Amino acid sequence: MPSRATTIPIAAGSPAIVAEPPTVDLTTTVGGVSLPNPVMCAAGTAGHGAELSAFVDLSRLGAVVVKSLSVDPWPGNPAPRVHPLSTGMINSVGLEGPGLAAWADAELPQLQRAGARVVVSIWGRSIEDYAEAAEALAVLVGRHDQPGAIVALEVNLSCPNLAGKSMFAHDAPAAAQVMAATAVAGLPRWAKLSPNTDRLVQVATACAEAGADAVTLTNTLLGLVIDIETRRPVLGGGGGGVSGPGMGPIAVRAVWDVARALPQLPIIGAGGVCDADSAVQLLMAGASAVQVGTATFADPRAPQRVLDDLTRWCHDHGVTSVAELCGASHR
Ligand code: FUM
Repeated sequence: MPSRATTIPIAAGSPAIVAEPPTVDLTTTVGGVSLPNPVMCAAGTAGHGAELSAFVDLSRLGAVVVKSLSVDPWPGNPAPRVHPLSTGMINSVGLEGPGLAAWADAELPQLQRAGARVVVSIWGRSIEDYAEAAEALAVLVGRHDQPGAIVALEVNLSCPNLAGKSMFAHDAPAAAQVMAATAVAGLPRWAKLSPNTDRLVQVATACAEAGADAVTLTNTLLGLVIDIETRRPVLGGGGGGVSGPGMGPIAVRAVWDVARALPQLPIIGAGGVCDADSAVQLLMAGASAVQVGTATFADPRAPQRVLDDLTRWCHDHGVTSVAELCGASHR
């Protein structure tokens, strides 16, 4: 896109020609979903509803991914549930949620009023749980009072905080079965995968073959912090998921590896996104969009700030379309 030029008068001599920064085309398409820009809120970091709208105009973000929901309400893990780290934080929230129907009645209308493009994240303990959640979503999507509110489904295969359950995202055939079982939702489906495996490419391949339109890379790293005074884990759930800026290189590597192996599979990058640099790295590694997570706990304006930083970075680097960054490091 050509940059416009402005003529400004100067005190003496001829007018100076000053180039205005080019307008940046921020639009992106992720696994069948067109978004006005590539910056979203990550699941679990912006609540279930529109609570961030006190700080951020949710309609300006690419999308809002709501905290993972199951069909039934679930109380989550005992407190404490979050603990700060020098590199970010560790959490063991345990997927607390009101259940899909209550969420649709209480929270979805608020997200709609805020103009958010909503991505619903679902979780389950079994393939049947995921299938039921996907069926419930199909009903919601068909409701006349909520047309077009939900743009995609993110299938959370990688929560580290479900006691006694191994992750679907660590088992390629199991992950594929879940993805196949969620087709009934009738929405574009993104599989949220785990960094805690050296078989990420195999799992992503299995999900894509089972119908995933995109993969979100990645969820948190398994971790545990001990309070040395009490000699006990600091989190009520024991271990937890580590996130934040320290995750950046891990997420970039995950995106890079999957993009290299599966260049046709759209990727959403998540992990350590807190500024233009961290977002651009994920885009260059092969992501078409990014999710801001832990940064939002420190500053609820973080998703908007990352979007503004990214736009400014593109201006400053003569990048006229964010699409040209996607996968740039592989070319
Ligand atoms: O414990 C939690 O609610 C975390 C969920 C996740 O990381 O997917």
